[in-house]
Amino acid sequence: MPAKNTKTTKTFPHSMLKEIFEQPDVIKNIIDEYINKKRKEAVFNDPDKILKKLKKINRIIILGCGTSFHAGLAGKYMFSEYLGVEAEIELADEFIARKIKTDSKTLVITISQSGKTADIIKAVRLVRKQKSFILGITNGINSPLDKLSNFICFCQAGEEKALAATKTYTSQILLFALITLYFGKLQKKITPTLRVKIINEIIRLPKKINQILKQNVNLQIVADKYYKLDDLLVLGKNYQYVSALEAGLKLKETTYMHAESFALGEFLHGPVAISDKKHPCLIFAPTGKNYKEAKKMIKKLKKLKKKTIVITTQGNRQLIKIADKIIYTPKTLNLFNPILSIIPIQILAYHIAVLKGINPDKPRNLNKCVI
Ligand code: AGP
Repeated sequence: MPAKNTKTTKTFPHSMLKEIFEQPDVIKNIIDEYINKKRKEAVFNDPDKILKKLKKINRIIILGCGTSFHAGLAGKYMFSEYLGVEAEIELADEFIARKIKTDSKTLVITISQSGKTADIIKAVRLVRKQKSFILGITNGINSPLDKLSNFICFCQAGEEKALAATKTYTSQILLFALITLYFGKLQKKITPTLRVKIINEIIRLPKKINQILKQNVNLQIVADKYYKLDDLLVLGKNYQYVSALEAGLKLKETTYMHAESFALGEFLHGPVAISDKKHPCLIFAPTGKNYKEAKKMIKKLKKLKKKTIVITTQGNRQLIKIADKIIYTPKTLNLFNPILSIIPIQILAYHIAVLKGINPDKPRNLNKCVI
């Protein structure tokens, strides 16, 4: 099934900003393609019932590079939380280097925006030889990944021209959520009530993303305050660790800022030694699961006189006195926080790049696809 076009008609100075603003449409495309709204369930166009054969699978490995790897990490956490399955996750290049053996009972979920990245394709060819089942997630129709996969899910994102992956990242995470729901139903691991709750929240996501996009001008002001920063530490726990990793990468590649990401708890095992005023911290702290730990860390950093920029949930007033800057995102289920929390950072990265005179669509030393 072909990926749909996105409908944004507004004009934008750069593709990156346009693509960030296309995210509500991309999510709607995925909803149209992969959700049966009446039955409130994930549906995949699977005429041969290939996915049902996956019952025999006893091992799952997720492969990706860069931003796609981060989407894969969100998927790993979803499988763990909702299916009770601990999937392995590997950077494609490390997977190749370690000569990891798989077999016909291994499901390899391979994520790649382009579907052409050399490491990914090499890894896929290796696992194909070992007769493993390949489930590809890509925006690249007719790409090598599309052709080599046993089953393919398209991001429905339309062309992504800017170097930085934005709309394809959030679509990859959503696809992972739908795959989790599909397996959850197949294996009777997700109750119908929970499934309906998750599907209803997916349907609300475009509206919630639009609320974040409305903060564009405010985020431009935030960018103006911070664009001269050379260093930034980025922290998050669990699904928010995924956001921390992706925020670090997005800021590095589009703004050249040294943004270093850590798992929240891990930060105390050494990196906290960098506790001077020069290194502010960006902390993902949406309310709900893991909020307490994030709040504790923000308080600790305040004591250490470190500046903090916090992403938290709309309506949360508890951090007003302890954080230096707060960016709000709408409340959602924890598994969708990596979708909502990253959007203000994509926008910030865009504006910082522009303020620094960098073309956000074509930052230095990088190619859209590493082949
Ligand atoms: C994303 O913003 C980066 N440019 C980069 O990390 C990218 O995600 C990586 O090279 C993987 O690309 P792919 O998804 O096309 O395989």
